[in-house]
Amino acid sequence: MAKINQDYCRLRGSYLFSDIARKVREYESKGPALPIIRLGIGDVTRPIAPSIINALHSAVDEMGSAATFKGYAPDLGYDFLRKAIVDNDFKARGCDIEEDEIFVSDGAKSDSGNIQELFSTDNVVAVCDPVYPVYVDSNVMAGRIKNFDEDLDRWKDLVYMPCTAENGFVAEIPKEHVDIIYLCYPNNPTGTVIKKDDLQKWVDHANKTGAVIIYDAAYEAYIAEDDIPHSIYECEGAKTCAIEIHSFSKNAGFTGLRLGYTVVPKELEREGVSLNALWRRRHGTKYNGAPYIVQKAGEAVYSEAGKKELRAQIDYYMNNAEYIRSNLEEAGYEVYGGKNSPYVWLKTPNHLSSWEFFDKLLYGISVVGTPGVGFGPHGEGYFRLTAFGDRDKTVEAVDRIKSMTF
Ligand code: MLT
Repeated sequence: MAKINQDYCRLRGSYLFSDIARKVREYESKGPALPIIRLGIGDVTRPIAPSIINALHSAVDEMGSAATFKGYAPDLGYDFLRKAIVDNDFKARGCDIEEDEIFVSDGAKSDSGNIQELFSTDNVVAVCDPVYPVYVDSNVMAGRIKNFDEDLDRWKDLVYMPCTAENGFVAEIPKEHVDIIYLCYPNNPTGTVIKKDDLQKWVDHANKTGAVIIYDAAYEAYIAEDDIPHSIYECEGAKTCAIEIHSFSKNAGFTGLRLGYTVVPKELEREGVSLNALWRRRHGTKYNGAPYIVQKAGEAVYSEAGKKELRAQIDYYMNNAEYIRSNLEEAGYEVYGGKNSPYVWLKTPNHLSSWEFFDKLLYGISVVGTPGVGFGPHGEGYFRLTAFGDRDKTVEAVDRIKSMTF
């Protein structure tokens, strides 16, 4: 008889966003009085920008002609896209990253879930708390995190780095020994950022201890202030200790198209083994490359017209963030994030738990957000709203929240 991978059986409940989607579906099936406004999962709502649509159309046409048809994509990504990434995301920022350090994929979620495969299961993992749940769940699935404390509602063999109002929701370097450190800035879910000098301290720490930082930069396009690094490779020495993950979902609206990439520098070695070579080997075996059509769309993201159109799209979302942030603040909420990030993180009023507040918004005013506790124990008493909604609906949702008394 086939035996089940018991590591999967240790996962807690269902995936946060699936849980929320189920609750919302049930509520919707009962025919609520007000139309539902979704500011929960960070899914974009603006249509794909015109120059990207043009690139998609012409790539589709190429696939219809024998002379230009493409079969399997190179498993590490087409050269045209890797070059555009290197030139725009790294060289333009003074980061010395080369094309053979870029691994194109179907998105940051897959990469951030899969990357842990490169590391032995006896490594100690550290995550921010609250955190994007994929980092934790993928390590549970791999058997690296096994023991859950039911009383404390947290994993015993995971190092949590609390992100609280006291430390400005920026994690502090853990005192205990850790081997793999997940960082995400601008942060999901709190919307906060890290200054370059502070990120440099993490890089120095990792180089000193031999830890590897997995740096999720999915939201870098939302950075508006100076002195906030867009890439960890802006820090000296990061190439010997950090892997960086990027997405085309949030900067270019590819949540439905699927495209991302991961940077694994050639200098990054542990126990004498090149992580770049391992990830290359992994891609060769498990991945046949992102579709040509989608990679052509990715290339258009870096065209002059594409950049201009996407700047306008990001501004649109950031206007939403500003609207949510300033209006809720005015209404007396304690609000964080939303300045260099599409996420606004708020303290629930009147000491409501995250899920109590979720229920009040859903069943009371048909507004969907994300309960902070779903991202980790220190998220309890907080709530996340996304700025990725339609402008009118965002304004309406904020008005509805302001109309509530607690
Ligand atoms: C989120 O809402 O945290 C993100 O949309 C999830 C994701 O990007 O996978």
